[in-house]
Amino acid sequence: LFHHVVYHSLVTSTQVIAHQLVNEGAREGTIVVADEQTAGKGRLGRTWDSQHETGIWMSLILKPLVDFRQAPQLTLVAAVALARALQNKSGQQIDIKWPNDLLVNGKKICGILTELQADPDRIKSVIIGIGVNVNHEHFPQEITDIATSLKKESGKNFDRAELITDILDEFSWLYEAYLTNGFSLIKPLWEAHSLSIGKKVIARRAKDSLVGIALGINENGVLLLQDETGHVHEIYSADIEIS
Ligand code: BTN
Repeated sequence: LFHHVVYHSLVTSTQVIAHQLVNEGAREGTIVVADEQTAGKGRLGRTWDSQHETGIWMSLILKPLVDFRQAPQLTLVAAVALARALQNKSGQQIDIKWPNDLLVNGKKICGILTELQADPDRIKSVIIGIGVNVNHEHFPQEITDIATSLKKESGKNFDRAELITDILDEFSWLYEAYLTNGFSLIKPLWEAHSLSIGKKVIARRAKDSLVGIALGINENGVLLLQDETGHVHEIYSADIEIS
């Protein structure tokens, strides 16, 4: 799947480069990788700390023939691939916090930013941005309490190129399996790493917050949250705090 790698030492954001490549007709499976980003993008308009050669900063270009409503599933496919690859390599337990934060010992080790290019009726391309904190010893003050790296957790350095290969191998078979068999194969794998299921959570959405028990995800990858009246809400986009 991933035969075309576009490597840069320094970029603003691999997402920005990937969007440009899509506009120039890049094919499915093109990957953009950088050693450092000056303007790494996180979810919800946040920035992403992308220091020189410490982490994996990459964007995958996909062109799946799936419906709009299934787009959140792709993020979960990526989360499963990353959780499996990072756990196998490091021996650390990797937890997924819905929808797409990967944590070790409660601290964030990896984030995923999925951006769509779409017509009203179909997805033209999906750009999955992946940031993995690999060999960081220090983080900026603001995130030092909430972020971690494979190095900080295990005391070891990891070869970034090897890790990229592992991540892409996991992603390739999971993505093929997802396209052939649908989300049903991915869902139990996602649940096996999930930190949120069965827990009381606060879901902070753009306009409101909901408190309830996270029951799990449905077939579209949407989070199901049961409030105290028993009503089950479908959460499409939110920040989740486990309480
Ligand atoms: C998050 O907020 O958790 C998502 C972070 C995604 C960061 C990655 S690093 C590679 C790619 N390029 C970017 O600018 N962002 C994503």
